[in-house]
Amino acid sequence: NPPQSVTLNVNGTSETLEVDTRVTLLDALRDHLNLTGTKKGCDHGQCGACTVMVNGRRINSCLTLAVMHEGDEITTIEGIGTPEAPSDMQRAFVTCDGFQCGYCTPGQVMSGTAVLEEFRQGWPSHVSKDLTGNADFNDEELAERMSGNLCRCSAYPGIRQAITSVAT
Ligand code: FES
Repeated sequence: NPPQSVTLNVNGTSETLEVDTRVTLLDALRDHLNLTGTKKGCDHGQCGACTVMVNGRRINSCLTLAVMHEGDEITTIEGIGTPEAPSDMQRAFVTCDGFQCGYCTPGQVMSGTAVLEEFRQGWPSHVSKDLTGNADFNDEELAERMSGNLCRCSAYPGIRQAITSVAT
């Protein structure tokens, strides 16, 4: 396909790319913008390693095309924190041993950050808005909501503990 121009707004910076219309957002981030913190695991929507936020909602960036995101606000793990100034969630993953090999960790951190926002906003709408004392915010519900992010090392207890420690 002939390349198409798309302006991606990633972590607050806009960049115009010429990409084949079949290039996924994941490949555009990694190969065109050199944002390699977002990982490629399965490349077909099953592992969550490629999780980024688009307009505040988490998505699998391997399942969407770069050219579909003109004007969207995209946040990657590089926009969440830095080694010098990690976010609360990133810090919590270290404190709670929320990883082993680390490959799935950027996706887990993105998803964990987004899932707390979903709870806060009461999204989807059947969930209560209040985090503290919210019957819906429990380990089982959290596990269900994080089930799109796989960890081959099975660090799940530490991952949920990290997210819970930021929530409470
Ligand atoms: Fe996108 Fe696995 S790489 S879900």
